[in-house]
Amino acid sequence: MAALRLQRALAPTGARTARRCMVAPSCARPEEVDAEATAVTRATSDPALWIFGYGSLMWRPGFVFEARRAAWIEGFARRFWQGSTDHRGVPGAPGRVVTLHPTPGARCHGVAYRVARAARARVLAALDQRERGGYRRERVALHLPATRPGARTRIESGLVYRALPDNPNYLGPGDLDEIAQVVAQAQGPSGSNHEYLKRLAATLRSMGFDEPALFELEARVEALTGAAGVLPHPAPTF
Ligand code: SIN
Repeated sequence: MAALRLQRALAPTGARTARRCMVAPSCARPEEVDAEATAVTRATSDPALWIFGYGSLMWRPGFVFEARRAAWIEGFARRFWQGSTDHRGVPGAPGRVVTLHPTPGARCHGVAYRVARAARARVLAALDQRERGGYRRERVALHLPATRPGARTRIESGLVYRALPDNPNYLGPGDLDEIAQVVAQAQGPSGSNHEYLKRLAATLRSMGFDEPALFELEARVEALTGAAGVLPHPAPTF
């Protein structure tokens, strides 16, 4: 059901009549995925660049792309462990934003963007600037669910911005109530930390994903702020 909602959320209008096996990760047998992985290695001359967004890049990429797809990466969990002093907080009062924590067996769902060769240098320069508060680019294997019945999950090599513990703004794990306190209060040049959390939660919901820890954080922040269901702008659409 979640997979179908995700497909509807992300598919171009003409493709919305598609049925079973379009996006469900479980539709691809491991050997199919492995075969695709080999294909990816062969396709390194592909001029397109794939970028994976799992935080604000999911709802506000801010760059020109040729295609956008639901995607996931393996072995990482989304965590509110990165401090933000340039977007959702300020120096001395950082907000908390997401990074990827290596977690065996985990799967992080997000959005993959394909960027044309002609635009890649410009897009990467802009993203490096936007994510300069502690993130760095890493190469990851992007799992792109099939978009046609009978097709296979594709794996593409892509880039992700990840904040590692060695960056000066890294905050790491914390008590959920303490994290909620920070998110409820922090403000930065890009807006409130609460808005960041709400947009992320709304985007995941619109794609059909259940992320209990994140939704629990949202509930705790709303218990503090009393702003349940309020977004300063319309909910994201795909
Ligand atoms: C991302 O969205 O992929 C990186 C983290 C962020 O900018 O929120």
